[in-house]
Amino acid sequence: MAFAHITGTGSALPQRILDNAGLEMIVDTTDEWITRRTGIKERRIAMIDKNESTTDLGALAARRALEMANVPANEIDTIITGTVSADRIFPSAACMIQRELGAENAAAFDVSAGCSGFIYALEMANNSIKAGMAKTVLVIGAERLSSLVNWQDRGTCVLLGDGAGAVVLRASDVHGGILSTHIKSDGRLWDLLYSEKGNQPPPESLNGLATTPFHLRMEGNRLFKQAVPSMAHIAELALQKNGMTREDIHLVIPHQANIRILQAVAEKLKISMDKFFTNLDKYGNTSSASIPIAMDEAFRSGLMKEGDHVLLVSFGAGLTWGATLLRWSMSPG
Ligand code: ACO
Repeated sequence: MAFAHITGTGSALPQRILDNAGLEMIVDTTDEWITRRTGIKERRIAMIDKNESTTDLGALAARRALEMANVPANEIDTIITGTVSADRIFPSAACMIQRELGAENAAAFDVSAGCSGFIYALEMANNSIKAGMAKTVLVIGAERLSSLVNWQDRGTCVLLGDGAGAVVLRASDVHGGILSTHIKSDGRLWDLLYSEKGNQPPPESLNGLATTPFHLRMEGNRLFKQAVPSMAHIAELALQKNGMTREDIHLVIPHQANIRILQAVAEKLKISMDKFFTNLDKYGNTSSASIPIAMDEAFRSGLMKEGDHVLLVSFGAGLTWGATLLRWSMSPG
C-alpha cells in the first residue's frame, strides 16, 4: 500500500496588517485585553483590489508548494481545499484554484469542517493515495474570514484573520509521511460557533474590504472548554495508534486559535510548549489555513528535518476536531 508524503509546502498572507491598536479604533477593546486573553498581536486582512480573494491566496500558496515539490500543475490528480469562506457559495474554491493553476487533470472539491478543514482534507487526500486512486494531491487551507466577521462584535472580530497554506502529497512505497489521522465531530454543539445572515457594512477604516452578508457568532467561553480536552484526547489517540509516547514527538503544529488553549492542551498532554509551533501572534486564527501556514513557516525556518515526528491537531466549528501524525519525509524517493 502506498504512503502519502508531504513533498512541498507553501503559504500566502495578505499585505494589510491590522494590529491591536488598529482594532481599538474599530471596537471597544484594548491591546492589553486581546494580548492577555488570546496572545494575538496582529492579523492580516485581505483586500479584493489587491487580488487577495480566497482563490488568489489559495492559488499563490499552492504555487509555492508545487514549486518546492517540483511538481508541474498537470501532474495533480486531485485538489482538496479546506475552507468556510470560498469566494462563492459555488463553485468550490478548489475548482477556482484549479483554473488559476491550469491543473487540467485534477478533480477538485472543498471540505467544510470549520477550523479542522485542513486535517479533514488531508485525510481525504491520504485515503485516495492509499486506495491507489491518486498519486499526487494538492491539499489547501484558504480563508478570508474578514468577509464573514461582524466588525461590531468585539468578542469575535479580534480573533480572526485571512491567509492560505498548501501542501503537495505524493504517493510512495517508502514507509512514512502520514502515519495516521483521527477525525471527529459533534453536531449537537453546532451553535457554539456558526455563521448566519447579517447586513452590517464593514467599518470605514476597513474600506476596500469585500464582505459577504454572513456574520459569525460564537460562544467563546464554552468553545474554549470543549477545545482543550478534545484536542488533548485526539492527540493521545494519535500517539497510542502509533505506539509512541510524547517523547517521540519533535514538533506539534496545532490550529492557531488562542495561546491559552494551546498552553492548556500542552499541559494536559505533558508536552512542553517549546515543542508547540505558534505564529498566532502575527496572524490570529485563520481557521483551515492556520495549520498549513504554520507548517510552511516551521519547515522553511528549519524546524523539521527528515524522520522527525510531527503532530498536527485541530478544533473548530461543527464541532469538529482531528489529529494527524506525520513522519517528515520530503524526498521519499
Ligand atoms: N475587548 C475587551 N473586552 C472584551 C472583548 C474584547 N475584544 N471581548 C469580550 N470582552 C469582555 C466581555 O464583554 C466580558 O466582559 P464582562 O465581564 O463585563 O461581561 C469579558 O471581556 C470576559 O469575556 P469572556 O468571553 O468571558 O472572556 P474569555 O476569557 O472567555 O475570553 C475568548 C474570550 C478569548 C474569546 C475565549 O473565550 C476564547 O478564546 N475562546 C475560544 C474561541 C476560539 O478560539 N474560537 C475560534 C474557533 S474555535 C477554535 O478555533 C478553537
